[in-house]
Amino acid sequence: MNHPDTVPGGVLVIGATGSVGRLVVAAAARHGLAVRALARDVGRAGRLLPGTEIVHGDLEDPETLARAVHGVGAVVFTHGAHNAGAYERVDYGGVANVLRALDGRALRIALMTSINVTRDDNGAYQDLLDWKRRSERLVRASGHPYTIVRPGWFDAAGPGDRRLVLAQGDRRSGAVDRAQVAEVLVRSLLTATAAGKTFELFAEAGPAPRDWAGLFADVLADVSGAVDAAQDSGTLPLAREPESLRADLDRLRAS
Ligand SMILES: NC(=O)c1ccc[n+]([C@@H]2O[C@H](COP(=O)([O-])OP(=O)(O)OC[C@H]3O[C@@H](n4cnc5c(N)ncnc54)[C@H](OP(=O)(O)O)[C@@H]3O)[C@@H](O)[C@H]2O)c1
Repeated sequence: MNHPDTVPGGVLVIGATGSVGRLVVAAAARHGLAVRALARDVGRAGRLLPGTEIVHGDLEDPETLARAVHGVGAVVFTHGAHNAGAYERVDYGGVANVLRALDGRALRIALMTSINVTRDDNGAYQDLLDWKRRSERLVRASGHPYTIVRPGWFDAAGPGDRRLVLAQGDRRSGAVDRAQVAEVLVRSLLTATAAGKTFELFAEAGPAPRDWAGLFADVLADVSGAVDAAQDSGTLPLAREPESLRADLDRLRAS
C-alpha cells in the first residue's frame, strides 16, 4: 500500500485557533506539511500561530470558503461552536459548507468529532453530539477519502497515558490529551491504512505508538457508501434525521 509522507498542496486546518486546532497546526508543521489556517479574526490568528499562512473565513459564510480550500490537498476539521444553539450552523453547517466549497475536487479529510455521538443519553450535550454525528454522515457520503476521529475526554488523561487505543462501536469512555488527538489527525493524512475509517480515541498507560500504519490497519473500515461507521449501533435511521441532513446527503451523492 502507498504511504504518502506529504500532502501535495498542504493542509487547511479548520478550527486552527482552538485548543486542538493549534496543536494540529504545530503537528502538521513538525511533519513538514505546508499549513493554512482558517480564521475569522486574521490578526488574532496571526498572533496565536506565528509563521502560519492565515486565510480569512467563517464557516457560517459559504462565500468565504472557496479561497480557503483553493489548492490544498487535505482538510482537518477541529472546529466547534462556542454557544448552544449554534451547533447546527457551525459544527454541522461548517462541514456542509466546506464540502460544497470543494465543488467535487477530491482531497483527504480528517474530521474530529467526539465519543458518544451515536448515543441518545447525552443530556445537555445531546444537541451538540447529534450535529457532530450528522457532520460525520456528510463526510462519509462525500466520496472524499477520510478519517473520522472521535476523541475521549481531553482533560482527564494521566501523564503516563501515551498508548493509544482505537475503539469502535462508540460504547466505551476514556480520555486522551489534545496533543495526541492532533498527532492522530495529522498521521491519518499521511497513512494509507487510516483512510475510510472511523474510531474512538483513548490513551492508556504505556508508550506512544511507533507503528502508525499497523495501528490504523487494525481498525475496521466503514462500509463504502454507508452513512454510519463500522460497528455503530444502527439505531439511528435516516428517516428520523432532519430533512436538511437528508437533502444535504442527496446533494453530495449526486455531485
Ligand atoms: N472537551 C472534551 O473533552 C472534548 C472531547 C471530545 C470532543 N470534543 C469536541 O472538541 C471540540 C472543541 O475543540 P477545541 O477545544 O479545540 O475547541 P475551541 O478551542 O473552542 O476551538 C473551536 C474552534 O472553532 C472555531 N470556530 C467556531 N466557530 C467558527 C466559525 N463560524 N467559523 C470558523 N471557525 C469557527 C474557533 O474559531 P475562533 O477562534 O474564531 O472562535 C476555534 O478555532 C468541541 O466541538 C467538542 O465537542 C471535546
